[in-house]
Amino acid sequence: MDLTNSNLPSFDLTGKRVLLRVDFNIPIRDDEILNDERMVRALPTIEYLLEHAKSLRIITHRGRPQESGKIQPEFSVKPIAKRLSQLLDIAIPIANSLEDLDQAAKIIMLENIRFFNGEKNNSEELAKQLGKSSDIYIMDAFGTAHRKQASTFAVIDSVPEAGVGFLVEDELKALKKILVNPEKPLIGIIGGSKISTKINVIDSLTSHVDKLIIGGALANTCYLAMGKNIGKSLFEEEYLDVAKKLTENNKIVLPENVVVLDTSNDSVLEKHIDSVENHEAICDVGRKSLEYFQKHIASAKTVFWNGPLGKFEDARFSEGTSEVARLMSQSNAYSIIGGGETITSFANINLMNSVNYASTAGGAFLEYIENKSLPCIDKIIKKNDG
Ligand code: 3PG
Repeated sequence: MDLTNSNLPSFDLTGKRVLLRVDFNIPIRDDEILNDERMVRALPTIEYLLEHAKSLRIITHRGRPQESGKIQPEFSVKPIAKRLSQLLDIAIPIANSLEDLDQAAKIIMLENIRFFNGEKNNSEELAKQLGKSSDIYIMDAFGTAHRKQASTFAVIDSVPEAGVGFLVEDELKALKKILVNPEKPLIGIIGGSKISTKINVIDSLTSHVDKLIIGGALANTCYLAMGKNIGKSLFEEEYLDVAKKLTENNKIVLPENVVVLDTSNDSVLEKHIDSVENHEAICDVGRKSLEYFQKHIASAKTVFWNGPLGKFEDARFSEGTSEVARLMSQSNAYSIIGGGETITSFANINLMNSVNYASTAGGAFLEYIENKSLPCIDKIIKKNDG
């Protein structure tokens, strides 16, 4: 089964009750939605299902609440259902219990699935309850397709039919351009704070890419492993051996020029990695290194990026991340970005439209690049191929 080619239209939805899993785990502060990109990107699937199916039940998670069976208002899907109802211009009732899903309305959104016991440990019982009144399950939560949970994984066995939505289809199509015969040179850019969450993907990427630019606190751990003084910079002690091995790979590119915060007087200065002092913390990529990165990015035919290259939420240290976003937007390469913070950095400087594809996923984006598959997607393929 090819999930990158009109999977949803291949189902006859006439008279069918559809259970749709989306990933509307979006940034919300005081009930105000800060970014609805993930919702907007799922609209084509929702609109198609509303037009063709008998009824639609929508499931999402929001954050990581306690799985207590109780509604925790700070994790409620209420603001999400309200925004979806504005986007679609229809009323969207919320089901607080699984029984409420059986009501007659055309469209219902279930309260945060992570309130329900059994979601996290992929409970078959919860999956059966979710699937019992549905004829078909559609997976469009690409951002959660790496999680084997009741509403993303076990549920696939609890419904007669299962497929993927237009968003998952687009994501798979775009990511295949990195993974299957990418146009070379292929340049990867990986930032962020934790080597622990990215080491496997970095490892698998080194055999695949031509160059891998590493920034953020990830780079600090590498520098410390090389015996350099990184002063008060963030790093991960338990990953020093792993980082040391990485630095011995000639495909890895680290920023030699860095922007540091002098913690003794709160001043910011730029310097070579070899002159960082004990009271300084590396917070961004320096200008000279950006010029060096520019050469790699400009020569690329395919480039992808996940994770900020510095403490970009602080304006004093956002230049590295913003400049790499600009360099990517100017390159002629096929470009893909993924991860909430990377997308925010493009959105902040109005460059969202300058990349070929912005993935809605963070962890799933990395896991797909690492393993070239995702458990929930594989399970759907298996169900259809028998
Ligand atoms: C994400 O935002 O990466 C997804 O929604 C998955 O969320 P999780 O890491 O809490 O499972």
